[in-house]
Amino acid sequence: MDKVTRHSLQAKKERGEPITVLTAYDYPTALLIDQSGIDMILVGDSLGMVVHGFETTLPVTMDMMIMHCQAVRRGASRAMLVGDMPFMSYQASLPDAKRNAARFLAEGGMDAVKLEGGQHMAETVHALTQDGFAVQGHIGLTPQSISAFGGLKAQGKTLETARQLLDDARALEEAGAFSIVLEAIPARLAGLISRSVGIPTIGIGAGAECDGQVLVSHDLLGLFERFTPKFVRQYAHLADVMREAFASYAADVSARAFPADEHTYGMPGDVWAEIEAEIGA
Ligand code: KIV
Repeated sequence: MDKVTRHSLQAKKERGEPITVLTAYDYPTALLIDQSGIDMILVGDSLGMVVHGFETTLPVTMDMMIMHCQAVRRGASRAMLVGDMPFMSYQASLPDAKRNAARFLAEGGMDAVKLEGGQHMAETVHALTQDGFAVQGHIGLTPQSISAFGGLKAQGKTLETARQLLDDARALEEAGAFSIVLEAIPARLAGLISRSVGIPTIGIGAGAECDGQVLVSHDLLGLFERFTPKFVRQYAHLADVMREAFASYAADVSARAFPADEHTYGMPGDVWAEIEAEIGA
């Protein structure tokens, strides 16, 4: 199958075909997602919470992101790969944003970068796209702004904030973004935004009228149990499967039922006989 690009995603929007996106942070997950025919893999800074166990995404660093991107790159050959720029890797200055975006492509092997923010980030998005980066925007509930929001809460429910989100989406498109993630906003507003911009919108908690959908893989797989956002559908309960497997292993080791003969290396009889003769084993 052909490599997915921003152009094939744009063509999907134009044909009215939903775009599929999942997060991945490691080689085996990226391999399986890629084999499943998912269009885009986002190496999200959500890894700070679901892989590293932080309370928020704020402690995630560029070095952490690059290491996870490299692992995902080794697993995926078809999906478009997007690296999520972590907190303060692009907000402080344009040179920072450019240097860090370049690391995602040159060191991390990503095809594009994502950053959070609308109108106020348009200048940064414009500068990056002028330099040849493919940039995905992210508006609505932007987890790096958790302290300003006072928690992970749905956004865009008032006239003023809904208008702002529409302006944000238009500003990102004008700045050259190839796509926009819409997180935790009312479905009708997400539908309106998706019809108002020419580029694909990817929803998470933003209803069915977006041009595509993204979920955090650990949520979809039932691997992250600290909390489950309202917008998640769990397609598996891997935490239960893993707990059972770990407990069975512990029980088998305790009962000397593992390892069995088939897991054990033998030794040629003549060699053993010599050892016994020499050492008296
Ligand atoms: O970090 C992430 O996984 C994300 C998605 C939730 C869109 O930004």
